Amino acid sequence: MTAMAAIHAQGLTKSYKKLAVLQGVDVEVAPGTIFALLGSNGAGKTTVVKILATLLRPDAGSAAVNGFDVVTQSAQVRELISLTGQFAAVDDVLTGRENLVLVARLRHVKDPVAIADALLERFALTDAAARKVSTYSGGMRRRLDIAMSLIGAPPVVFLDEPTTGLDPQARQEVWRAVKSLAAGGTTVLLTTQYLDEAEQLADRIAILHEGRIIVNGTLAELRRLLPPATVEYVEKQPTLEDVFLALVGETTADGSAATQSKELR
Ligand SMILES: Nc1ncnc2c1ncn2[C@@H]1O[C@H](COP(=O)(O)OP(=O)(O)OP(=O)(O)O)[C@@H](O)[C@H]1O
Ligand SMILES: [Mg+2]
Repeated sequence: MTAMAAIHAQGLTKSYKKLAVLQGVDVEVAPGTIFALLGSNGAGKTTVVKILATLLRPDAGSAAVNGFDVVTQSAQVRELISLTGQFAAVDDVLTGRENLVLVARLRHVKDPVAIADALLERFALTDAAARKVSTYSGGMRRRLDIAMSLIGAPPVVFLDEPTTGLDPQARQEVWRAVKSLAAGGTTVLLTTQYLDEAEQLADRIAILHEGRIIVNGTLAELRRLLPPATVEYVEKQPTLEDVFLALVGETTADGSAATQSKELR
């Protein structure tokens, strides 16, 4: 580890009864960067996020946020983080502005209304601010949900599948918001099943599969795991999807994916 990592996890294991979901997960995220945790349904992405966000205790291993242990110093960790869960936590009967003001009051920030208005502006929700959330599109709800999680300007933000179910335009709006967060120095750990999302956003990408991180690197490093596919005259770089499917979709019994993953360690 060089400078202190914003998020550091080592050897995390977690089972639900007999189901061993995490079997030794290591994560390291540098401050102000975007880290994408990729994995299929049920791979354990939400479980990792819940552990890092102090909502779930690991069975073994350790994790820290800005140097604070998520188990023994959970109160300090909670001061530093926000979590936008997989399912939006906005209140339908309130307006967008009311949702934000409510959360700002709960978090005891100064001048809740000004904070709410600034976030509405930032997430392009000013025009819809006075409308009930029940009238919002999926993308608007998601943006409001992320905006709510940013009240109090937490330095570390967890986004669990921030764009699942959104149309392409709404996804790009969320991407822009996430990029601007990182540009402002916020550390972002997001989970996704969308490979293009990881390609678009992440400084580093990790693939969680069968309880472990099987690869972890930059997009360029992940691409290097596969030889370029040659199509007659043009040389084509493998997409992240090619890499993902080669590692996850077609993992062979002899663990060829595991062998490849060593190259990045
Ligand atoms: N509270 C729980 N009790 C029992 N099993 C659970 C519990 N929470 C999760 N699981 C199981 O653990 C596994 C990992 O779940 P998790 O939600 O972490 O996966 P995920 O990668 O986030 O999946 P998805 O992409 O569907 O959100 C799944 O098989 C799930 O059914
Ligand atoms: Mg999940």
